Amino acid sequence: MSQILGIETSCDETGIAVVSDGVRVVAQQVASQVETHAVFGGVVPEIASRRHTECIHQLTAKTLADAGGHIDAVAATCGPGLMGSLLVGVNFAKALAYSWGVPYVPVHHLEGHIFSVFLTDNPPEFPFLALIVSGGHTCLIDCPRPHHYTILGSTRDDAVGESFDKVARLLGLPYPGGPSIQKAAEEGDPKAVAFPRAMNQSDSLEFSYSGLKTAVLYDVRGNGHATADVAASFQRAAVEQLLTKTKAALAQTGARTLIVAGGVAANALLRERATRELDAAVHIPPLSLCLDNGAMIAAAGYSRWLHGHAGGLDGSANPGLALTD
Ligand code: KG4
Ligand code: ZN
Repeated sequence: MSQILGIETSCDETGIAVVSDGVRVVAQQVASQVETHAVFGGVVPEIASRRHTECIHQLTAKTLADAGGHIDAVAATCGPGLMGSLLVGVNFAKALAYSWGVPYVPVHHLEGHIFSVFLTDNPPEFPFLALIVSGGHTCLIDCPRPHHYTILGSTRDDAVGESFDKVARLLGLPYPGGPSIQKAAEEGDPKAVAFPRAMNQSDSLEFSYSGLKTAVLYDVRGNGHATADVAASFQRAAVEQLLTKTKAALAQTGARTLIVAGGVAANALLRERATRELDAAVHIPPLSLCLDNGAMIAAAGYSRWLHGHAGGLDGSANPGLALTD
């Protein structure tokens, strides 16, 4: 049995976990900074990195005590994300790896989201198509085998999670916007407002969310629809764009297996409609694994280590790190 320590600090969650053999979460801690940033309506990078620094030692000590046993490698998110926040996790991970004499494994944040599905009771097998939807990313990725990826389409402007956050702000709903909009939408009519569906007609697998956000802005200024109706109509339009492009990607690639991961994969409408409407075996991790966490980084780190992709202690953080070379 191999135990990997995973460290995630790319944005506003400090996630620490020990995962055994890349598939079982032995112990984990997640400290969310949501309440700290909510008063500002979004993440304040300088505050985020300070908060990671304040709690990373305590969370790691608790996780290691809960897990017990030997740690074989230390994985950390090395990018993309907020530079100050990434540096906290990367340097903490490298210091531990150095002092324990074990490998340090740098992990791309999106690869972490992809590997979150291997921590479930029903993990997929390669090859598969991945729809990764978060606050910073919206992309369809062809995954033929571990650590080989082709990005088939991504967003031209806002990420889908970012659009939930911005629209929530327009509607006066609290940060983070995803859960607030989902909650408000429960009371609303998803057909109340006919919001535009961006790039619906083209074969392209690119996404665009800024037009939808602007349409909500004009509606809020001009039409006086109830907040719940706007939230429900926006959520429907946002989710339908994901479903349309994913359907096209499944048809173009012939993929039979789909994984959906990242913070927006916590969305109930997306989970329900993706499972029901897409012609593929659909794997979506439980809510706790959709949001940023250390376990997904440990799972990806274990696989990288197994496949000979451990890094050296000279590697640093890269806020703009690409998934593919
Ligand atoms: O993956 P994640 O925790 O962090 C990033 O890597 O960005 O994703 C955070 C994003 C936020 O934009 C948040 O509003 C969104 O995920 N989110 C949701 C839901 N829960 C979180 N979006 C829609 N519906 C949700 N239930
Ligand atoms: Zn994420």
